Amino acid sequence: MPKVTVHRKAHFNAAHRLYRKDWSDTKNFEVFNKCSNPNFHGHNYELIVSLTGEINKETGYVFDLGILKDLIKSEIEECFDHKNLNIEVKEFQDLNPTAENISVVIYDKLRKHISTHLDLKITLYETPRNFVSFSGS
Ligand code: NI
Repeated sequence: MPKVTVHRKAHFNAAHRLYRKDWSDTKNFEVFNKCSNPNFHGHNYELIVSLTGEINKETGYVFDLGILKDLIKSEIEECFDHKNLNIEVKEFQDLNPTAENISVVIYDKLRKHISTHLDLKITLYETPRNFVSFSGS
């Protein structure tokens, strides 16, 4: 059967601060500039979750997008939306919440719920012009 990629878009708002605890505020400002603001700042994150696999002969689906919608809601939106990522999300207690690291965390959280015969790709927009993608390696 042909392989097709299905996509689901989602959204969350979250605050973060980019910094390393082991660096001074000066060094953090040098590297992360205003993103190291000690009082945090927010982003409107746009998330695209993509699944690639063969079309199921019975259903005609690659993956039920209703199930994917619920999975993104329970695993990502409920954990990240309107949260301070540094303070309230355990995955970022010791991990700088850059878009890169957030995309890997999202991948890991979703991967365990999706059959390994499907390829998973995460695309995460931190701003309309800045975005990252991660496919597991
Ligand atoms: Ni930022």
